[in-house]
Amino acid sequence: MQTRRIAVIPGDGIGIDVTKEALAVIQTVCGVTGDAVRTTEFDFGAERYLASGVSLPDGTHDMFRRDFDAIFMGALGDPRVPDMAHARDILLGTRFALDLYANQRPIRLLHDDLCPLTGRGRRDIDFVVFRENTEGLYVGMGGIFKKGTADEIATQEDVNTRKGVERIIEHAFRYARDNGRAKVTMSDKSNALRFGHDLWQRVFAEVSERYPDIESNHLYIDALALQMVKNPAQFDVIVTCNMFGDIITDLGAALQGGLGMAASGNINPDGVSMFEPVHGSAPKYAGKNIANPFGAILSAQLMLEHLGLAKAGLLIEKAVIGCIEAGETPRELGGSLGTREVGAAVCRRIEELGG
Ligand code: IPM
Ligand code: MN
Repeated sequence: MQTRRIAVIPGDGIGIDVTKEALAVIQTVCGVTGDAVRTTEFDFGAERYLASGVSLPDGTHDMFRRDFDAIFMGALGDPRVPDMAHARDILLGTRFALDLYANQRPIRLLHDDLCPLTGRGRRDIDFVVFRENTEGLYVGMGGIFKKGTADEIATQEDVNTRKGVERIIEHAFRYARDNGRAKVTMSDKSNALRFGHDLWQRVFAEVSERYPDIESNHLYIDALALQMVKNPAQFDVIVTCNMFGDIITDLGAALQGGLGMAASGNINPDGVSMFEPVHGSAPKYAGKNIANPFGAILSAQLMLEHLGLAKAGLLIEKAVIGCIEAGETPRELGGSLGTREVGAAVCRRIEELGG
């Protein structure tokens, strides 16, 4: 049997708390399904950065590529590193270095009670956002001129390449086709950003022609934000640029019951991919057994499914839904369980479902 090798970076703050539970869930579910998974933990994060001045040692990305099938990450960010230098190196650096161009962020409501919209429920909120993850405003091109003077100029380049735009749009359509989704919505701001997003318009028109079986439509990003709240049921798959994808997936997290519920995968379809909850490191809740581990656990689900372990993924999902239905939830969701108790409840349900 093939052993899946997973590199684990718990990171900072509550990342450490929720990763522990996600790993326990992975071990439990693989015990039930008989899948073989080996996890190796790395202490990359603020502590190590502050002690050594190094965020990611040389050769780390090559090692990930060579020795692992996937990477699981908790969260990064620490008040002792106010400029987030280590977080940028480790999180954004890995997205770039491993060319994790498809940031897959499912927006799925698991229980009607978690929905912040009146009159909406599970059947209304079930779509997937594909955020371009290697270009746009995130490439770090630009500069500051006459810093600190009244004439200061700061530029931040928005980079959109033909190849980059085409592969994320293509990925979204392929995902729709492979997963029984009827429609792909592309969102940009081409009414104002006449160059970069003109490219998105043209490429989207081209790629959508290759998928005549999939409906396609377009919404400007401001209109999309409104429609996500007004009528989220219209969406199946959304594809958008890095910056807009960042923003709308926080909005999407709110639709699912909060940032603590949102999972994500940073995918390179031809290489090693990285999985992480959408939430941050929330330093003030770190180590207090109060963080919501569901986002991390659902990210583990995404990872196992990506690694071909569909049965394990389904068991995790059923167990999480079972917990929410039974009120076995953290305080954030109105329950009374701690991080560890939620993790244990998910594990117990997986064993019951499997046994
Ligand atoms: C996310 C985060 C990151 C991003 C930050 C921490 C740089 O908000 O993964 O959504 O903007 O991509
Ligand atoms: Mn974000």
